[in-house]
Amino acid sequence: MTVSRRINFDEPIPRMIERLKSEHIMFESKLVQVENNIKRNDIRLAAQGIEDMGNKIIQHAVEEEARLMRVIMNNAKDESSDSISIMQEHNWIMKFLNNRVKLIINASKSSDPAEKEKAKGDLNEFVDNLRKHFKEEEQIVFPLTLRSQSAG
Ligand SMILES: [Fe+2]
Repeated sequence: MTVSRRINFDEPIPRMIERLKSEHIMFESKLVQVENNIKRNDIRLAAQGIEDMGNKIIQHAVEEEARLMRVIMNNAKDESSDSISIMQEHNWIMKFLNNRVKLIINASKSSDPAEKEKAKGDLNEFVDNLRKHFKEEEQIVFPLTLRSQSAG
């Protein structure tokens, strides 16, 4: 996986948050495709859909941690605990993208129905949790960043 991990520190925070929100919308449309492939029982295609999003999701997460959390820690440290917890969710997202998704692609070739069901369950769980994560960011992390950067 090649991740550029370039952070543009010149992009103004309000503009960056608008971009992150539009990336969430783009990710959501991919997640709908993934879900459709799970429903059609095409586990390989569903897992590949997640894998294809991997680099973009990781870049997105790295940017949130590097820029938004810096603003929050500098200007609103006493209100930061929920945002810190939400940023820690990036750990299971990374783990899934770096490890589990490859195992699921392998499992999709298996003739064992139990293994396929487990793969489907894991994919559905990841999609649900990722959606929740984006929502939490939009409800908690983004507003706190905006509020604290204008104050500080
Ligand atoms: Fe995130």
